Amino acid sequence: MLQFDLSGRRVLVTGSTQGIGYAIASCLAEHGAEVYVHCSRDTEKAQRIAREIEEKTGAAVHGITADLGDADAAQQLFAMTGDVDILVCNASVQVRRAWDEITLDEYDTQMNVNLRSSLCLMQTYIPGMQKRGWGRVLNIGSVQQAKPHVQMAVYAASKCALASLSDNIAKQVAADGVTVNMLLPGVIATPRNDAALSDPVYREQVLAKIPAGYAGEAQDCSAAALLLCSEEGRYITGSSLYVDGGMHL
Ligand SMILES: NC(=O)c1ccc[n+]([C@@H]2O[C@H](COP(=O)([O-])OP(=O)(O)OC[C@H]3O[C@@H](n4cnc5c(N)ncnc54)[C@H](OP(=O)(O)O)[C@@H]3O)[C@@H](O)[C@H]2O)c1
Repeated sequence: MLQFDLSGRRVLVTGSTQGIGYAIASCLAEHGAEVYVHCSRDTEKAQRIAREIEEKTGAAVHGITADLGDADAAQQLFAMTGDVDILVCNASVQVRRAWDEITLDEYDTQMNVNLRSSLCLMQTYIPGMQKRGWGRVLNIGSVQQAKPHVQMAVYAASKCALASLSDNIAKQVAADGVTVNMLLPGVIATPRNDAALSDPVYREQVLAKIPAGYAGEAQDCSAAALLLCSEEGRYITGSSLYVDGGMHL
């Protein structure tokens, strides 16, 4: 029988104080993992959310911070967590601006948080997984890899680059029992897009692009994440799984 039992597994989910990261962290904790919840700077918030997940799941949950825009963020995090068995690179920055107006600072921020930090986190955490012969990495991409939004060209590019990195690394670590996959959400109702989706005209335009006809909830990403982070998902690597109501089609 399928168990999806994560007892004894240690997990870091970046950007997990809200939205999709929160839903994934909660789901992995519900299945028995010890979880590190993370956000950029507000330690009190990270610890409060950790306590909240701990109370509802009974798992051990810790709250930690590090700004993924910092070049040494992965080392900062490793100093707090030590080795983990499951790494979910979920945090990202998204700047809405026309491609010909985007500034170099905005380019750097998105590339550093969305791409560079994911590389550094994989470089930091995968060697321990390889030594132990078991590991799961889940990188969160976006439907924009297939359907880029005209005002988010660099954001989409950062996710496409992350997909290439994921595939490349997946191939190189597969023999050590480590899988590396991408989960690609479509339009998911999270604090990130609350304001945009509360505009009824914009909301209608967005919904018209989703074959399923509705925006997803953060929890819609949890089951896919659980599969890709579990023993049951051991033969799935280098995959990109859309959770988007068909929007990429
Ligand atoms: N929501 C969607 O419709 C959608 C669609 C496609 C893809 N995605 C992807 O799904 C993932 C989660 O999206 P979401 O909508 O759940 O995001 P969200 O609600 O905006 O939450 C983002 C999380 O990432 C953290 N974070 C942001 N910048 C950070 C930084 N520099 N350093 C450390 N942590 C940082 C935030 O913490 P702070 O509060 O400290 O900043 C927060 O915990 C992202 O990779 C996003 O690109 C989302």
